[in-house]
Amino acid sequence: MITKIAHTAMKVTDMERAVAFYCGEVGFRKAFELPDAQGNPWIVYLKICDGAFLELFYGGEKDRDPAYASDRVGYHHWCVSVGDLTPFAAKAFEKGWIGSPEPQLGKDGNRSIWIHDPDGNALELVQYAPGSPQMQSNQGPYEYGREGLTGIAHVAFTVSDMEQALAFYREKLGFALIESLKDEEGKPWLNYLRVADGTYLELFYGGRDRVEEKDSSAGFMHMCLECGDIQETVEALRGKGAPIDVEPKQGGDKNWQAWTHDPDGNKIELMKISPESPQAKA
Ligand SMILES: [Fe+2]
Ligand SMILES: [Fe+2]
Repeated sequence: MITKIAHTAMKVTDMERAVAFYCGEVGFRKAFELPDAQGNPWIVYLKICDGAFLELFYGGEKDRDPAYASDRVGYHHWCVSVGDLTPFAAKAFEKGWIGSPEPQLGKDGNRSIWIHDPDGNALELVQYAPGSPQMQSNQGPYEYGREGLTGIAHVAFTVSDMEQALAFYREKLGFALIESLKDEEGKPWLNYLRVADGTYLELFYGGRDRVEEKDSSAGFMHMCLECGDIQETVEALRGKGAPIDVEPKQGGDKNWQAWTHDPDGNKIELMKISPESPQAKA
């Protein structure tokens, strides 16, 4: 019932700077804006490619260091897939964001680079290799070599209890575990789950430090999973014991949405895209 990661959402401290980075530098396209109930600026929707978006929320307060910390429970990084990483890596090197124009070869066989947005959130760009575990897990054909940005490759969380996290994502959301990687010392490092072809979830071990976040905290807010029938999806999740925080309702953008959360409290939106929505029209 869950078909992919539809969007990720970030609260930003400076909207103009964030849009300049994601559109001007990375190549997302400004699609539309949504005002809040009082008519004030609320969300800017950036289109990555068809069916994949980044939601940028106004009003983020920088009250914590978003830089990578291996033991921080919750959001770790997110990743966008590209057809050919070479021009992205060349540009990132030219800008001084990465130390070499040659992308890193990951343990999973994919090439990737890491950059940071103006608020310090890590963004990975990946080019999938046909032999990688992600591509091996595909159920349909994957089109290699497409130009530009091709989708949300994954969202990554550091979890406090891997067993609980896997139980939630595998048994309740139905994602398949496709790969477990170990670190340099041979210790369990991360688990890779398949959401859909080309879209995955990375779960890192070792979360201990829980950072309390306010609604106004800058940084990652939630990920959104697109689904078929929202009522059926919600009933199926409820039947398996997943918490339903918000029952299905139609949002201001005409899409149907509901909310759940994982065992570490990461917020997960479920969305049934409506044909009249700005997302569908974008
Ligand atoms: Fe990653
Ligand atoms: Fe959202």
